[in-house]
Amino acid sequence: MIGFSNGVYHSVSEISIPITSISINRGYGAFEFFGIVKGRAFYGDRHLNRLRRSMQILRLKTNYDEQLEEIVEAVITKNQLSDAYLKLFVLPHDTAATDHRQASLYVYPTQMPLFDSLLYEEGGRLVTKNFQRFLPEAKSTNYLAGQYWMDEQNDSRVVDVLYHNGHSVQETSRGNVFIVKDGTVITPAENVLNGVTRGLILECLSKNGILHAEAEVSLALLYSADEVFLSSTTKHILPITQIDGRNIGSGKPGRLTREMIRVFQQLKDSY
Ligand SMILES: Cc1ncc(COP(=O)(O)O)c(C=O)c1O
Repeated sequence: MIGFSNGVYHSVSEISIPITSISINRGYGAFEFFGIVKGRAFYGDRHLNRLRRSMQILRLKTNYDEQLEEIVEAVITKNQLSDAYLKLFVLPHDTAATDHRQASLYVYPTQMPLFDSLLYEEGGRLVTKNFQRFLPEAKSTNYLAGQYWMDEQNDSRVVDVLYHNGHSVQETSRGNVFIVKDGTVITPAENVLNGVTRGLILECLSKNGILHAEAEVSLALLYSADEVFLSSTTKHILPITQIDGRNIGSGKPGRLTREMIRVFQQLKDSY
């Protein structure tokens, strides 16, 4: 596989970063991750815009800020990618900083294992934790809390950790959350990453005339929801049927969740 390493196309296995990098020493960096569907970046424009937004929030710049689209195209072409994923990293290496940190850009193809189809039929499970991501609108490389808490789980049906602030829920460590209550689909409005999948789902809900809102979701509303589902680039729409050991709704994936899985699949198939 060929990747882009700050100006040079290399075999991915040869791409490395300096051990002295502040991206390692301080865990500072931005990244982006998206699917390649039939040789095209799936809503690549939205992902690259979000990367630019993350870089703005984290005060990062590279020598390639205006060429992200061309570099993504080149990596797709050089690897003849059809169905795959791409990762982009923006990593500062120097400790010195002025108003913006100079960072290096890395782009490379990757594959993701498919999630167990049983999770889509029966639903996954979540555990909740009181935690707020720092600068939540930025897709930073800091996933320490989520990774640490996921490593503690020994139930293979626990798919992620859902963050709350003691009153309301925000998002999971790697995805956005939606609940359904009395026919209305609700997703938290604040202190979340603006998920590209989340945005596509909101558009699908509008197009299909399904009542929905971006609003606060209290813990009480979460536990009493009729349905819950997650959204992300890798999971697409994943039904959640148990949270903290409590069943959600009937304990089976609900009608609106199944409907949205179908609609989202159509969107992907027709891309
Ligand atoms: C913290 C967080 N929230 C939400 C998402 C979902 O975003 P997207 O749908 O763009 O994959 C992600 C994806 O990585 C994430 O890390």
